[in-house]
Amino acid sequence: MILQCLLVSLLTCQVVYSLDNGLALTPPMGWLSWERFRCNVDCKNDPDNCISERLYMKMADLMVTEGFKDAGYEYVNIDDCWPSMERDSEGRLVADPLRFPSGIKALAHYVHSKGLKLGIYEDFGSKTCAGYPGSEFYMETDAKTFASWDVDMVKFDGCNSDPKDMPYGYPVMEFFMNKTGHPMVYSCEWPLYEYSHKLPPPDYAAVRRNCNQWRNYRDVQDSWESVSGIIDFYGKDEGGFAQYAGPGGWNDPDMLVVGDFGLSYYQQQAQFGMWALFAAPLMMSVDLRSVTPEAKAILLNKNIIAINQDPLGNQAVRLFEVPGSISVWVKKLALPKPGTVAIGILNKDDAGVPVKYKTSFQDLGFTNKGGYSVTEAFENKPMGSFALSQAFTISVDPTSLFMMIAQPRP
Ligand SMILES: *[C@@H]1O[C@H](CO)[C@@H](O)[C@H](O)[C@H]1NC(C)=O
Repeated sequence: MILQCLLVSLLTCQVVYSLDNGLALTPPMGWLSWERFRCNVDCKNDPDNCISERLYMKMADLMVTEGFKDAGYEYVNIDDCWPSMERDSEGRLVADPLRFPSGIKALAHYVHSKGLKLGIYEDFGSKTCAGYPGSEFYMETDAKTFASWDVDMVKFDGCNSDPKDMPYGYPVMEFFMNKTGHPMVYSCEWPLYEYSHKLPPPDYAAVRRNCNQWRNYRDVQDSWESVSGIIDFYGKDEGGFAQYAGPGGWNDPDMLVVGDFGLSYYQQQAQFGMWALFAAPLMMSVDLRSVTPEAKAILLNKNIIAINQDPLGNQAVRLFEVPGSISVWVKKLALPKPGTVAIGILNKDDAGVPVKYKTSFQDLGFTNKGGYSVTEAFENKPMGSFALSQAFTISVDPTSLFMMIAQPRP
């Protein structure tokens, strides 16, 4: 349970119940294999890119040596396609013996020795999305197995199941995970499956009570079309899911594709900035062996990470949108002082010329009488002080995000 106060107005305080496992007090950060490495199990012909303990060990090494760990990235997460097709004689999952010859516990030990944490993947249904054994009828066994392997996070997918069962089934897994006594971040996909099966809107209060993070929209793909579709979904905020984000529980718009193939430099920056505004889990899905210096600089941008990790845990809402063009997003921050906001101005227009957007803090609905002192967020460039009604013009390049931090002035 947390007491969440909206610091800008200081008028509204509400009690928001979250999963009480002490984890994910800020959005989890790490690396997850799915978007970039998928279900490549061909270690014979593609040993460097197949889903294997070698891949996760290598990524853990690079997270440390390339500065990702120091920047806050912590979890090294396995996705689908890690287990054998058969459970053992006692019904337990076993890692594929050829691709994970040392086993998951040894991999967890290795990752822990680097000061990082290990995440694993299972599915609520009879099979995982890629056809590996699911947790249906095995939730207690699987929770115990993961705890016995010292796993730190469980992503629980929802393929091959009836989403109508999820509102009581996902909490059952949470119950068994809790009973192990071993703290594990619980990453759910329950709202996504309700949404994609056109069931009634998810009960986000219940989701938050049972999960540390939850997917609610389609898988991210390596394209601007996919990323901007997710941004639209978060902008519409149907059912008001944004308000359920906070310490202990987060909406999850899926992985970062920064450093992959499909986004321009500015689109990568826009995804990273928007995910920071969303207080989203920051899960890279990139080959850290070959990530370019430009993409790496985006992923390691301290200012943007600080916006994402702000202890208030507020998720940005879209103030308004000019369809096909500018949208304005605001995330309330506790740091460096109460009343600070991060303001994102996203330009979706791909006509090829920057959009000039003229506004003032007053026009944007802000009320601090002393006005605001403003810094551009990506480059940490001071922009000066602005009186409340003082007009200013921002130029935003095509398919790019302009972001600023505004601190109230006395
Ligand atoms: C289990 O739940 C209790 C009560 O909500 C909580 O205090 C405890 O930290 C939880 N334990 C784990 C391992 O999640």
